[in-house]
Amino acid sequence: MKKYNYFLVCPLNIEQLLEQELIIKWKLAFPQTEVPSYKLLTGGIECQISPKQMKSFLGFLKLPSKVLRRLMLNEKCFGEEQFDSLVRQIPWNNFKIGPKTKINVSSQSSRIYHKKKISQKISTIFESLGFKNPSSNQDQDAYEVLFRLENNRLSISLNQYEKLYHRGLHPLVGKAPMREHIAASCFFLLYQLAPKLFSPELSSKKERQIIDPFCGSATLLSESFYFFFNKTINQFYSAPMNTKNLSLVGIDRDLKKIEANQEFFASLPQFKFYRSSITDKVSPVSIEQDKIRIVISNPPFFKRLNEKSHIKPIQLLNIVLEKYRPDYLCFIYPVEESFPEKVTYYAQVKKAKINFSGIKCYIYIYKNEKNEY
Ligand SMILES: C[S@@+](CC[C@H](N)C(=O)[O-])C[C@H]1O[C@@H](n2cnc3c(N)ncnc32)[C@H](O)[C@@H]1O
Repeated sequence: MKKYNYFLVCPLNIEQLLEQELIIKWKLAFPQTEVPSYKLLTGGIECQISPKQMKSFLGFLKLPSKVLRRLMLNEKCFGEEQFDSLVRQIPWNNFKIGPKTKINVSSQSSRIYHKKKISQKISTIFESLGFKNPSSNQDQDAYEVLFRLENNRLSISLNQYEKLYHRGLHPLVGKAPMREHIAASCFFLLYQLAPKLFSPELSSKKERQIIDPFCGSATLLSESFYFFFNKTINQFYSAPMNTKNLSLVGIDRDLKKIEANQEFFASLPQFKFYRSSITDKVSPVSIEQDKIRIVISNPPFFKRLNEKSHIKPIQLLNIVLEKYRPDYLCFIYPVEESFPEKVTYYAQVKKAKINFSGIKCYIYIYKNEKNEY
């Protein structure tokens, strides 16, 4: 099986989580074969895999946002003629290049720098090769072709899959929906910090509640569902999880979102949604001692917190801890917050910054020091 160079793109600073995911999931997906050779780079991992393996492997991976197949890597390119002949070296006939294929050009510190001109040149080459009407022998889709010039070196990559983080479990999308791969990163961080929390032994004994008090369109809960139930992910823990003992609770003050979620997730009894504001005295979730509770949320940021009285992020943290008394709390914030190291018997055990295409977020994890996980 011929292998190709692929680049798995992920948000900045989660490359090592992706490395962990690649190793664990490869062993699950292809137990008979060795983990492919790979290189950890800024913004992702380069690895050598056959196209067929990559297609099925992507069903297992939750952290990458895209996967690029490298067609050319860092070839010297100083002028238009050279560019033309390099582009023509690619066996374009093997891919479905058509009018819908996007062309993405970038140039940095290179003699050829005019992006519009480069795009026109590429279109001319493709047209001369007859790609207006793709022929039937082309076996692989090309959703996007990326041409990158950097220090007079040309790299060409093929993006065969649309955004991987659009997983589809998404009803009414609000103003600031969470990207699925970022939500998945939070669960991986939690798993790294407290693997015992996710162990099948524990799940068969105790009920586990995942609560998002500002659930919006329920991205975090959908990702936790994938994390626990997805057939491929289930095997992540070597033994099947006890699915009866899990409830995924979404709370939001926006009734429309709650109703949309209730309708969308109606066939999945693990999901429960309640309309309530964080400042309501009565919580829709009863706090029981013997349950494991994980609160995971990207709370509304300052003005978006729909409350008449002004609540500071630190106060919000206190309210959430007091109200739900979780074993772990994971807050995802778009700005750096000076959350304290300690809040009563909670200790901040992780602060991580992740960044993808300029979208930054900070993840804060607090642990209840009284628990044993
Ligand atoms: C940043 S969004 C959460 C987005 C969500 N993770 C998603 O992917 O759609 C914040 C949510 O908090 C809700 N919200 C705002 N103020 C609230 C309050 N006082 N109590 C509960 N929910 C509130 C908003 O309706 C909004 O859905």
